[in-house]
Amino acid sequence: MDADFFMNEQTPTGQTAKRAPALPDAQTVKSVHHWTDRLFSFRVTRPRSLRFRSGEFVMIGLMGDNGKPLLRAYSIASPSWDEELEFYSIKVQDGPLTSKLQHIQPGDEIILRPKPVGTLVHDALLPGKRIYFFATGTGIAPFASLVRDPETYEKFEQVILTHTCRTRADLEYGRQLVESLKDDPLIGEFVGDKLHYYPTTTREESPKMGRITALLRDGTLFSDLGVPPLDPACDRAMVCGSMGLNTDMKEILEGAGLREGANSDPAEYVVEKAFVG
Ligand code: A2P
Repeated sequence: MDADFFMNEQTPTGQTAKRAPALPDAQTVKSVHHWTDRLFSFRVTRPRSLRFRSGEFVMIGLMGDNGKPLLRAYSIASPSWDEELEFYSIKVQDGPLTSKLQHIQPGDEIILRPKPVGTLVHDALLPGKRIYFFATGTGIAPFASLVRDPETYEKFEQVILTHTCRTRADLEYGRQLVESLKDDPLIGEFVGDKLHYYPTTTREESPKMGRITALLRDGTLFSDLGVPPLDPACDRAMVCGSMGLNTDMKEILEGAGLREGANSDPAEYVVEKAFVG
C-alpha cells in the first residue's frame, strides 16, 4: 500500500531538490459548505481519467501527521456526468480524518484514489417499476448522486427518496438538493414528477416524525405516498445508513420477499454502510 507515496517522497537520483513532496493523487478543493456543526459538503476537481457509476465510493483523505495518507471511503455525491466531485461528510471532533478535513478551504488539496467501487449501483438491481432509496444521516450521499442520474428515471417510473435524521437542520442538504432538481437544466426534465422525497426526523418536531423502519412496518409510508406495500415483482430498494438501519431494513425487505443483489448477481435490493470518519 501507498507505494506511490513513498516514490514521491524519494528525492530523484542526482537531484538535491528540497521542495515539499507532491501529494499523491491530489485534487483541489473548489468549494465547501457547512450545513451544521456536524455536517459539511465539499466539491473537488475530478481526475480526467476517473469514470464511475452513480452510487459508488472512492477513498479520499489527507496526509497524516506521520507522513502517511489517512484515507476513508466516501460515497461520491455528485452524478457521473458532473465535471467536479462532491462529497458529504460528518464532522467528528476527535475523528482522525474528519477533525482535519472539516477545515479544508477552496484551493487546498485532498488525496483521492481514483478507484471507484460499491454495491449501490443500478447494475446490482433487476429491472423494476419503483425504486426506493432509504437513507439515514450522511447515508444520503450515494443517493444524491443517483437522484441526479438520468439512468434512474429511465429505469424507473417512480423514485422514492427517504431520509431520516435527528433534526430538521440535518435534512437540509438533501432538501435543498431535491428542491434544486426541478429547475435543473440538465436533469429537470428526466426527474419530472417521478421523484418523491420523504424526509423524517426522530429527535426534533417536523411534519413527519419517526424512524423509517417504524413508518414502513406500520404502513404509514405507503399510505402517505399512495403506493402499495413492498412487492418483489415491481419494487427495488437501496439502503445506506448506520449498521442498525441496514440490519433492520434487510429484515423488512427480506420479509417482503426482496432478495439482496450484487454487481455479479442482480436482485431486488442492495445495502451499504454509510461511512464515518
Ligand atoms: P434515532 O434518533 O431514533 O436514533 P445518527 O445521527 O445516530 O447516525 O442517526 C441518524 C438517524 O438514523 C436518526 O434519525 C436515527 O434515529 C436513525 N436511526 C438510527 N438507527 C436506526 C435504525 N436501526 N433504524 C432506523 N433508523 C435508525
